[in-house]
Amino acid sequence: MIGKTSVELGVIVQHAAQAEVAEQLRQQGRIRNVELQVRRKDGVLLDGVFSGEVIQSQGKHYFLTVIVDLTERKRAERALKEKNEEIDRYFSLSLRVLAGGVAHEFNNLLGGILAYAEFADLDVPSDSPARDSLAEIRSAAERAAVLTRQLQAYAGRAPFVLERLSLSATIEQMKPLLMASVPKTRRLVFDLDPELLLIKADAQQIRQVIANLVINASETLGNRASADGIAGTIQLRTWSQPCDARYFECQGITEPPLDGTYVVLEIGDDGPGMTDDTRAQIFDPFFSTKLGGRGLGLAAVHGIVEGHRGGISVDSAVGAGTRFRVHLPPAEVSMIPSSRGSLL
Ligand SMILES: Nc1ncnc2c1ncn2[C@@H]1O[C@H](COP(=O)(O)OP(=O)(O)OP(=O)(O)O)[C@@H](O)[C@H]1O
Ligand SMILES: [Mg+2]
Repeated sequence: MIGKTSVELGVIVQHAAQAEVAEQLRQQGRIRNVELQVRRKDGVLLDGVFSGEVIQSQGKHYFLTVIVDLTERKRAERALKEKNEEIDRYFSLSLRVLAGGVAHEFNNLLGGILAYAEFADLDVPSDSPARDSLAEIRSAAERAAVLTRQLQAYAGRAPFVLERLSLSATIEQMKPLLMASVPKTRRLVFDLDPELLLIKADAQQIRQVIANLVINASETLGNRASADGIAGTIQLRTWSQPCDARYFECQGITEPPLDGTYVVLEIGDDGPGMTDDTRAQIFDPFFSTKLGGRGLGLAAVHGIVEGHRGGISVDSAVGAGTRFRVHLPPAEVSMIPSSRGSLL
């Protein structure tokens, strides 16, 4: 091996790193602590940290290198990361099971509370002060039922009634409701593909997804309206497109659904956007940056989209607004039952 360069011997495995090392040595005569893969004499690949120096002796140039073997450390780091991911998955699953179970029990109890409040209302004279109290009980129980539905959706335990529906038509039907749910200072812009492929979905849950995303967008826009009386724009777009693992990876979807054509719903706003830290936590249940926020809206959206064998992505940066994309498989795709118990 004497007389051969490390390049000729193929010690450094990655071509790009090899070129980089050579270039730095040419320019600076030394290199320090570059992490790369090297090949041992017996051909075994190692993760190493590489330092080297060009030295001169008797008019000749020599290259002195030291490679510290990091293979074990890297392996331990990888094992730790995998273990942490496994714990995260287990924790998330346990939380879903717990939330789903509690939500189910609460739903039954709330059904009883609402029903008995109605019966009592019938028995109480119309001028009784107890009527106001009964109205308060009903209203609190209805608010609790909304929360329970969000929890059930997060846990993937919301009841499914599947039908073939057009996402564009669903949004068209919801237009009056959406407009009434957000202040007049929000401009709602619709760009809906009328030829959109149909999806097989639970209409109630899909409406919950749309409403949660639009309400979040509206809440982020704040109250400061410009001269034209508009505090910001919320845009709803639909289209169909082929999506593969690479596309889903670009969209930051870590557990990508199957490759194929998807129906896409995009809901964007020109609000203040999110920090990286916030963006990383938005789908966690009970994460909220709002005063009085419950942090259940996006957890429910995530559970619903997953239950429909879809994927959701978010693109947001401080000062650059926020854009959510929901990808749902069209009705024609054959679907496998979900391990979380959804019917798709
Ligand atoms: N369009 C958006 N722009 C900026 N931040 C957003 C947007 N949508 C969601 N977020 C962030 O994600 C967090 C979680 O949203 P999520 O809908 O789950 O809960 P919430 O809106 O705070 O409470 P609620 O349970 O009432 O919906 C929000 O508190 C906010 O920080
Ligand atoms: Mg919300």
